[in-house]
Amino acid sequence: MELQDKFGRKFPYIRLSITDVCNYKCTYCLPQGYKKTPGDNRSFMSAKEISKLTKALSELGVCKIRLTGGEPTVRKDFFDILKDMKQNSKIEKVTMTTNGYRLDKIAKQLHNSGLDGINISIDSLERETFKNLTGHDRLPEILTGIKILQDLNFKSIKVNAVLLKGVNDTDKDFDIFSNFIKDNKIDFRFIELMETGDNREYFKKNHVQAKKFKEYLNKNNWLYQTYGKNAGPSLNYIHPDFEGKFGVIAPYSKDFCKTCNRLRITARGDLRLCLFGNTGTSIRHLLQNDNQKKELVDLIISQLHHKKASHHLEIGDTGITPNLSSTGG
Ligand code: 5AD
Repeated sequence: MELQDKFGRKFPYIRLSITDVCNYKCTYCLPQGYKKTPGDNRSFMSAKEISKLTKALSELGVCKIRLTGGEPTVRKDFFDILKDMKQNSKIEKVTMTTNGYRLDKIAKQLHNSGLDGINISIDSLERETFKNLTGHDRLPEILTGIKILQDLNFKSIKVNAVLLKGVNDTDKDFDIFSNFIKDNKIDFRFIELMETGDNREYFKKNHVQAKKFKEYLNKNNWLYQTYGKNAGPSLNYIHPDFEGKFGVIAPYSKDFCKTCNRLRITARGDLRLCLFGNTGTSIRHLLQNDNQKKELVDLIISQLHHKKASHHLEIGDTGITPNLSSTGG
């Protein structure tokens, strides 16, 4: 079976948030730190519920799940969830997005658990800037963690940075990132800052078009790699003199949604068809017993008919996403 919407897009990929909690205070996301959503008393899905969900998803042809949050590793049972997914389901690739918290301490365990890929957020490679942006002086431990993973021959390491005015948007900043991936087999991606319900003013002040970084890539002879099968919305660039790759995620570009290949499930068990959509259908009541699997599969398939061709971020329509920690980045 394959999940397909009415526009012919396929969804082999799920972003599964396992907690809204994040311990960082990134200026564009949770500047005051994580706070419980008022009025929402639902707990996060349990490891058991997640296990049932994973099995249903693999019946729907999903072959990749990215664990996300919040910060997924703040969950005490994070490794139980990861191991269960790797050992007891047919999901081929389990990856995660992390802020790199304690990466030096857990790198080995991540590798041993069978994790297939990691996306680490590093908005600046300058220690002070990183500290000011996230509220944590933790850049060195992240870089050590990356080194440990590389020494273990860990398969796929990606680094994300959100493109931000005055933080990382000059040619000098781009050069720093480019030096970092010169002899380092890392996919480094710039994400254009997205407006969310909570960050309107911040967005107006700090948004920089992805075009600025693309111009840098063109000037420096980076070559655009065409789309592969199941490729997501990232535009990828290679260079013969570099071990690493650059990527650009430009959610405001015209055709961005055409290559959408993912659905999201929030930590409280809502299926979200789009990061910037207006609906979230709860599927959690169908994660209680094994004999509900068929009903769950049917519900997900029927919801997919409602997926829209595109979001409308360009007119400031941020849907029901107050910030990315609540929906799953
Ligand atoms: N715009 C763009 N990227 C964001 N992220 C979090 N919030 C935003 C936003 N408003 C990034 C995180 C992480 C990735 C999952 O999404 O920094 O790298």
